[in-house]
Amino acid sequence: MKIIVCKDSKEGGLKAAEILRDVINEKNDAVLGLATGSTPIDMYKSLIKMYENKELTFKDVKSVNLDEYVGLSGEHDQSYRYFMNDNLFNHVDINKGNTYVPNGLADDYDAEVKEYEERIDRLGGQDVQILGVGVNGHIGFNEPAEKLELYTHVEDLTQSTIDANSRNFASVDDVPKQAISMGLRSIFKAKKIVLMAFGENKADAIASLEYSKVSTLVPVSLLKLHDDVTVIVDEAAASKLSK
Ligand code: GLP
Repeated sequence: MKIIVCKDSKEGGLKAAEILRDVINEKNDAVLGLATGSTPIDMYKSLIKMYENKELTFKDVKSVNLDEYVGLSGEHDQSYRYFMNDNLFNHVDINKGNTYVPNGLADDYDAEVKEYEERIDRLGGQDVQILGVGVNGHIGFNEPAEKLELYTHVEDLTQSTIDANSRNFASVDDVPKQAISMGLRSIFKAKKIVLMAFGENKADAIASLEYSKVSTLVPVSLLKLHDDVTVIVDEAAASKLSK
């Protein structure tokens, strides 16, 4: 596991974008596993700049997103489909037909999660998966629990995640209580993983990456079982790592 400590999310976002750019330039039809939240926003800004400077093209790129809220349509401004269109897809030459985000309004969620997992397999897995981390250590929407789901599934959100994510909604009551999320095994299908975390409230989750044990109660700690993980953090998120 490689840990890169950056000045801020801008520098960190640029580093992550450089990794994605190199993956795409090596394989034009790369499959990107993408994430939402405030953490990757600067990375998407850097990618758009790189595209404008003709450092890369998304023409043949495909993407699979980690998760989506149950009950929100892609037009809802807090849906992750909307986020992706707004923060990346609308600004680059990606074919939106090649971008996949779980359908938050599926008629049949069992069928949706099964189809989503099969989609990841048909694409051959992610060449690189971008991850943020929740304050409680969740990745995607895999919440701390005694047992974690392996594959794409519907997850009940914990109150702490609902509270943390309520900052983006009019009120806490508007935050969906469930989400469709890739499972741990779906995430581990990625050849390469880039985890980003910025801010002091992520320091405990990041510190768990140094322990010699893993715990499903801190899902991010399981990333130690993957062979190719790069962690990009700012000083605050790195503050509980040993110096
Ligand atoms: C959400 C997403 C995660 C994300 C996390 C952190 O719950 N499902 O994928 O990593 O929040 O969000 P933020 O980057 O805004 O801190």
